Amino acid sequence: MAGKAVLAFSGGLDTSVAVGYLREDHGMEVVTVTVDVGQGDDRRRIAAKSKKLGASKHVHVDARREFAREYVVPAIMANALYQEKYCLATALARPLIAKKMLEVAAAEGAVALAHGCSGKGNDQVRFDVALQAGSPLPIIAPVRDMNLDRPAELRFAAERGIHVDDVSKKYSIDQNLWGRAIEGGDLEDPYSEPREDAFEWVRTSGLPDRPTYAVVGFEAGAPVSLDGRAMDTVRLIQLMNLKAGAAGVGIVDHVEDRAVGIKSREVYETPAAICLVEAHKDLEKMVHTKHQTRVKAAVDREWAELAYAGLWDDPLRDDLEGFIRSAQRAVTGRVRLRLFQGGVRVVGRSSPCSLYDARAATYGEGSEFDQRDARGFVRLWGMQTAEANKLKAPARRKA
Ligand code: ARG
Repeated sequence: MAGKAVLAFSGGLDTSVAVGYLREDHGMEVVTVTVDVGQGDDRRRIAAKSKKLGASKHVHVDARREFAREYVVPAIMANALYQEKYCLATALARPLIAKKMLEVAAAEGAVALAHGCSGKGNDQVRFDVALQAGSPLPIIAPVRDMNLDRPAELRFAAERGIHVDDVSKKYSIDQNLWGRAIEGGDLEDPYSEPREDAFEWVRTSGLPDRPTYAVVGFEAGAPVSLDGRAMDTVRLIQLMNLKAGAAGVGIVDHVEDRAVGIKSREVYETPAAICLVEAHKDLEKMVHTKHQTRVKAAVDREWAELAYAGLWDDPLRDDLEGFIRSAQRAVTGRVRLRLFQGGVRVVGRSSPCSLYDARAATYGEGSEFDQRDARGFVRLWGMQTAEANKLKAPARRKA
């Protein structure tokens, strides 16, 4: 196929192999696109690498603010933790990268879209679904199309003189503002403990012997300040990552169900995500009624499933977010976190929208609640349970 292919490019093994494949096996001109979602890569190194691989053009898009505001903040509002653990860092970035690819493809008059994902993971699903929702162009995924495993990719790279960094030989890393995923190598044995050198964001030894505290301020569900200082979301997340990571907070290690059915052992460093979701969820419980809390948890779970499975563009997300947004109106206040030796705990919360009433809750003097009001309620509350238990006793069973 002649013409231009727009390739999502990180400079890693998969996408480097992809450039070679598109050029040599497809005879295409390659435009590489790197979307900055806070992965902290060296911009010039990636551009140079793209050039060295023979791409005709490299486009860099700084999407950090957009990522934080349009993708991460909604995830915080949804307390998004897939299977109770994973903050969706990679999952949230893919639809945004796809969106930027489509913009570049339109500007460049491309005839194909390409990404470096394998046929085993979630990212192919997320890219393909987002790309096909926005464009009829064919999608080329060289690693998937050639059924390459990692050794085959390394051979492919070696044959073509494609340089591979040391770290990408040991682990496969995907990182952005919201988290860092570490996969492959010795981690593929789910019983093997991650080595210290797998971690870059979270301190694993020599931790401080005193707790540190962080106060997160929320406004209508979005984090807006840290330790009393108002700041933009990107900065806030970066600082929270540093602060919690320094206290050893943020490592997640679990077995995850991929959208494609395969189970995978995943190790993450997500200090800010763990803290901000924990804080947000805690504040919600103070300002929501018990009925809101119950339904919110169910909606949140659906939101996380949808985002994980690459269905960001499904109208169901709008529907769920209608509820979530409405539920955020009262989520204003601040939450105090204690960070110590790898653990995080909420130790204080306060809100102008709090439904907590100390005078109702107190066991001390001065309660405004007359305990005698409770009797009728409790009798009705337990009535059906009492009836059912009467039927269980054989001697008393009605004829
Ligand atoms: N399991 C996570 C996910 O599906 C992280 C995957 C990161 N790895 C990668 N190659 N992109 O979102």
